[in-house]
Amino acid sequence: MADAVFSMEHVSKAFGDNVVLRDISLAVEPGEVVAIIGPSGGGKSTMLRCATTLEQIDAGTLSYGDLVVASTDADGQVSYVRGDTMRRAKSRFGLVFQSYNLFPHMTVLRNIMDAPIVVQKRDRSEVEQQARSLIAKMGLTGCEDKVPCQLSGGQQQRASIARALALNPDILFFDEPTSALDPELTGEVLKVIRQLAAEDITMIIVTHEMAFARDVADRVVFMDGGMIVEEGAPAEVFGNPRQERTRAFLARYSG
Ligand SMILES: Nc1ncnc2c1ncn2[C@@H]1O[C@H](COP(=O)(O)OP(=O)(O)O)[C@@H](O)[C@H]1O
Ligand SMILES: [Mg+2]
Repeated sequence: MADAVFSMEHVSKAFGDNVVLRDISLAVEPGEVVAIIGPSGGGKSTMLRCATTLEQIDAGTLSYGDLVVASTDADGQVSYVRGDTMRRAKSRFGLVFQSYNLFPHMTVLRNIMDAPIVVQKRDRSEVEQQARSLIAKMGLTGCEDKVPCQLSGGQQQRASIARALALNPDILFFDEPTSALDPELTGEVLKVIRQLAAEDITMIIVTHEMAFARDVADRVVFMDGGMIVEEGAPAEVFGNPRQERTRAFLARYSG
């Protein structure tokens, strides 16, 4: 697909003898929201970590738009781009983890401004303006000068989302963004992700929040055993799953 924001093709990954990703292919169109669901240990986080180059793939290709980040030659040797090309690729995506990973000694404002200034070498006043507007958008007005430990988990996660957005990525990856939160704080984080979806921000979201996935995603991907078992429109996957494994998984959430 020529205009995919992100694509992985025939990606495999093992840790020692443990094959965690088996021939995964996934392409995401501009503005598309893809929810990834599936049982623990199925390879969802590894998939995101491979997509964002935190882990190296063993086989396959990885691209961001026209930029091929990793490819496999005829001998099965994987090579990654380096230097400026890799830096350019890395500025095309943002990643929001389950645990918020903010710099603990920096204020919210500094957390958001740091990478755009240090990594992207952007103008400080322009970055600050954008950071303040992201803070407002994430409902964090008044938190600019607070450090992470002064914030609730939900506020910290929203600051992490602002930090990812400040790099102006083409796609955002979320790895279970609400699973470390107390239930009463989950809603406020899902709400800002919904808002991003409404703005046509391209996203891949690993989540256990089935109602949210059904509601916000354009496409749902069910992963189990390192494979994409089934994918489709939310109404299909949730309403009429074709695979027994998908049915069995979803049955656990319907009680
Ligand atoms: N860094 C690692 N080293 C060794 N094994 C790993 C590592 N990361 C994940 N795994 C293994 O990969 C499998 C898939 O894990 P993961 O991608 O975290 O699944 P999920 O996010 O779907 O729960 C598990 O068997 C896990 O133990
Ligand atoms: Mg995981």
